[in-house]
Amino acid sequence: MLPDIQNREDISRLVGTFYARAFEDPIIGYIFTDVARIDLDEHLPVFTDFWETVLFRAGTYKRNALQVHFALNAKVPLEAEMFDRWLGIWTSNVDDHFSGEVADRAKLQATRIAGSMHRRVRGRSGSEFETIGRREALVESGMPTASEAPRP
Ligand code: HEM
Repeated sequence: MLPDIQNREDISRLVGTFYARAFEDPIIGYIFTDVARIDLDEHLPVFTDFWETVLFRAGTYKRNALQVHFALNAKVPLEAEMFDRWLGIWTSNVDDHFSGEVADRAKLQATRIAGSMHRRVRGRSGSEFETIGRREALVESGMPTASEAPRP
């Protein structure tokens, strides 16, 4: 029986093992290593903040993840198969390390956020109303947004 995700340390381990796999992946790995060229040591605390906010409403993530993926999508169109791959790696990585209610939520929220993110990058219109729609889509998906105050 695997333990459930309980705290920031667990999330840190989860995102660390996830990105190690994602970086090596034949379908999406190059986006991290060659396109965005991210330094994992610098980014891991950001990813950890994000998931701590999604799962525990910690309010530690104050950036705009959607904007980051819009910028990325302008360099490499983010396709359905890439989101599927991202989710496949996320889900199997959660299942390899954790099980329980929070682990289930980590998989469910990732699926919702990926779906919402994919729709937003694909349907990007440039319309002046986009900001409104974008925020609604994000709140609906459970993705943390910069303007959403953490719950006490
Ligand atoms: C096609 C699927 C995806 C790919 C290829 C991808 C790739 C990337 C890359 C390369 C970065 C770093 C960008 C940069 O700093 O320049 C990034 C950042 C990030 N990604 Fe994704 N991503 C995908 C989907 C997702 C999904 C579904 C989630 C959440 C459920 C997610 C969460 C994040 C977060 C939280 C960041 C950090 C944003 C920040 O800097 O504040 N990504 N992603």
